[in-house]
Amino acid sequence: MITKILNCSDSEIEQIAQIESQLFTDSWDFQALQDLFSQDCNYVFVVQQDKTIVGYCICQMMFDTAEILRIAVDKNHQRQGFAWQLLSKVTDFLNQHRVEKLLLEVREDNVLAINFYQKFWFNQIHIRKGYYANQDGTTTNALILQKDL
Ligand SMILES: CC(C)(COP(=O)(O)OP(=O)(O)OC[C@H]1O[C@@H](n2cnc3c(N)ncnc32)[C@H](O)[C@@H]1OP(=O)(O)O)[C@@H](O)C(=O)NCCC(=O)NCCS
Repeated sequence: MITKILNCSDSEIEQIAQIESQLFTDSWDFQALQDLFSQDCNYVFVVQQDKTIVGYCICQMMFDTAEILRIAVDKNHQRQGFAWQLLSKVTDFLNQHRVEKLLLEVREDNVLAINFYQKFWFNQIHIRKGYYANQDGTTTNALILQKDL
């Protein structure tokens, strides 16, 4: 079941931080997530199984535009449609708030996520060359994707 959380408890933030550390090289820790959730413009949606968070989507809403800051599903629960359900719930919520455009940024080498976004009708509108600095000294482009709501 997908839920929008109004005030994340410490335990919920810890569960999200745990998935962050599993999936992202630039993972957000407890403090970073707590700071993010304390801002009124940011919203978090979670999918839970047996009261444990297995996926989440964090979005930021600014007037008629919103941005997906993160979407992630725990490795053991991927390919079960959870990200699709999360994004559907987020877009319903944004539609209710008359948001017109949804943006996100994704690493050019994150093929799985790009496939997923394209399937969800996002289009590439821009490329930021060399946006991500990698640990080996190389860089990776960022793609900016947009979906009209
Ligand atoms: C991208 C991500 C959120 C997708 O989550 P998910 O719950 O597995 O996605 P869904 O099950 O809802 O998949 C929906 C569709 O997306 C595509 N897709 C998702 N994962 C895929 C994969 N591993 N390989 C190919 N296509 C994939 C498929 O078309 C899939 O539909 P299908 O299963 O009917 O073929 C997940 O892989 C993830 O957490 N990745 C790591 C974090 C990340 O990179 N987040 C995005 C950047 S912020």
